Amino acid sequence: MAGNWKMYKTAGETTAFFEKFLPLVASSTHCDIVIAAPFVNLPAAVAAAAGSRVEAGAQNLFWAKEGAYTGEVSGPMLSAIGCSWVIIGHSERRQYFGETDETVLKRTKAALEHGLKPIVCAGERLEERESGNTDKVLQTQFEGGIAGLSEAEFARVTIAYEPVWAIGTGKTATPDMAADAHRFLRGLVSARYGAEAASGTRILYGGSVKPDNVRGLMAQPEIDGALVGGASLDAASFATIVNF
Ligand code: 13P
Repeated sequence: MAGNWKMYKTAGETTAFFEKFLPLVASSTHCDIVIAAPFVNLPAAVAAAAGSRVEAGAQNLFWAKEGAYTGEVSGPMLSAIGCSWVIIGHSERRQYFGETDETVLKRTKAALEHGLKPIVCAGERLEERESGNTDKVLQTQFEGGIAGLSEAEFARVTIAYEPVWAIGTGKTATPDMAADAHRFLRGLVSARYGAEAASGTRILYGGSVKPDNVRGLMAQPEIDGALVGGASLDAASFATIVNF
């Protein structure tokens, strides 16, 4: 269960969140719990989460180890502060910051090389769904952004299916719609990496996951977890989702 805070909260607000959140998930051992905070808040998140099962994640990284790349943050920098997860290829990065399947693959390889656990996002836009191209879009994103990983690399990847039209809109995919997309993605994994890899891969659903719809989504065997935006900003609300 991962919270993507996007560009929300200060360091002080991060610490305050963890104070409220940790007691609410202290006995939640059924899943990994990740908070993906803005870069500058990661030290606060790592410090606040110390000694708990909650792990800190970044929302992006650059693929070079270091260099003249003004404004970028690298894998070794994230590992060094105790960040253990990283979201890659979120649709907001594709839409506003020029992320492509090719850069998703480069970032994912860099994350793995530096011991980070990547959550790689895929998902179709509304017009792509409405024109019947959902599977085609997911296949293109999988082939360009993921399939270039070796079997050993892929084994450490979590996939997130996030239909763009469901993000921040309050329009959740129905559990059946989400499960269909997850099944399709898992089929692609199976064709590329084998049936065992496919059944072992975690595929998270993201897009307006809330305390009142998480149970229906998680009741689908195809849905292994959630990547939660808005509802992860409030400690009680995200704890309810984690403890669905
Ligand atoms: P919302 O839960 O706010 O729709 O955001 C989903 C998302 O983009 C998570 O990465």
